[in-house]
Amino acid sequence: MDNLIFAGCDTVELAKKYGTPLYLMSEDFIVDRLNEIKKGFLNKHQNTMAVYASKAFLTKEMARIVKREGIGIDVVSGGELYTAIQVDFPMEKVIFHGNNKTYEELELAIDNDVGRIVVDHGEEIDMIEDIASKKNKIAHILFRISPGLNIHTHKYIQTGQVDSKFGIPLTEKTINEAIERALRAKNIEFLGFHFHIGSQLSDNENHIQAIRIMVDLINDVKNRYGLITRELNTGGGYGIHYSDQEERKPLSYFTDEIMQEIEKGCKEYQLERPLVIIEPGRWVVGESGITLYTIGAIKEIPEIRTYVSVDGGMPDNPRPSLYGAKYEGVLANKISEERKQLVTIAGKCCESGDILIWDIMLPKVEKGDILAVLSTGAYNYSMSSNYNRIPRPAVVMIKDGKDRVIVKRETYEDLLRNDI
Ligand code: LLP
Repeated sequence: MDNLIFAGCDTVELAKKYGTPLYLMSEDFIVDRLNEIKKGFLNKHQNTMAVYASKAFLTKEMARIVKREGIGIDVVSGGELYTAIQVDFPMEKVIFHGNNKTYEELELAIDNDVGRIVVDHGEEIDMIEDIASKKNKIAHILFRISPGLNIHTHKYIQTGQVDSKFGIPLTEKTINEAIERALRAKNIEFLGFHFHIGSQLSDNENHIQAIRIMVDLINDVKNRYGLITRELNTGGGYGIHYSDQEERKPLSYFTDEIMQEIEKGCKEYQLERPLVIIEPGRWVVGESGITLYTIGAIKEIPEIRTYVSVDGGMPDNPRPSLYGAKYEGVLANKISEERKQLVTIAGKCCESGDILIWDIMLPKVEKGDILAVLSTGAYNYSMSSNYNRIPRPAVVMIKDGKDRVIVKRETYEDLLRNDI
């Protein structure tokens, strides 16, 4: 067979059946990852919790899969929360994040009894208290702390440095103010702290550094307020394999070290070890997805470059133009042919920066060939747009070699739905 097989399906046949561009996701792969979370983290370490960071990829069907597998979910907007509500996701397993949650979003969260709200700054406490007291509810909160680390990843996906829009900066004044405010609030129960230091991290060092800082903080607030930290949420950020420059590490590469460091710190200070939460997003879905495109215009600029254009691009995958992200690609209908042509894969937007892959070796490319871009499962569909009024592709989920549409392809009518 000369075609790329993905999750047991012939990708060229799927391109014919559903059209392109097309997102393909493997449910088996996602479930494998969720099982690795259970085996390698939840069952291995007592008093732990795992939530999937749904910003990486969320649809109703994805929320159903996560629910069925018994993992929690992290949401960061009213829209993500609404999606979880629509599939009856167990609300105690929902963690609500965001650096600027609106009153309405907080109301939706509190009305639905979400398990934890991660407070990003002091004023949010007043909003939560106001809503919770009106509704006669107790809101459970964690504080997001910005541990002041400089992380080795793209500037736009670093989040733990001092100069960050996320979290409460780690100064005595800001932390004390926030804690005192929470302690005064009658309808708020403080559970603990959260940090998330960045994304696509290839080593565990930054997590370890952050944990040392957090354990100091836990000890400080115990000494100062007699406050017991019952939960420590260590965020996500585990890197995946996009191209041969990156190696995917097993979950335990990160989580074993995280647990060990927390145990060690708690022992030193004689603290009871809090419940430990992890929030992987990309690691769960990134490599579960590929995107299929059809090759269109081929433009050879002699001695400069050959541009090969596809029928999608920046609207379905903004990561190359946004972060300079690098992807691997293959010609799905010529999978075993020798790669002897150097080309650049261009998207179809009116934008010079709409390049999916610079300088890739492929077999001789012809109009009508199917290009598969690999590891597009995270932050592609979820970050897609309708730029240039290009409808979003369909999402097809594959399980046991059987394909099913989980998100329909958008139509031109969909694009006009809210136009007056
Ligand atoms: N928890 C929190 C609070 C987060 O902010 C994030 C990601 C995660 C967990 C999950 O991180 P992950 O395990 O997926 O690395 N759009 C960017 C990534 C932004 C990540 C934002 N926060 C990209 O395409 O690379």
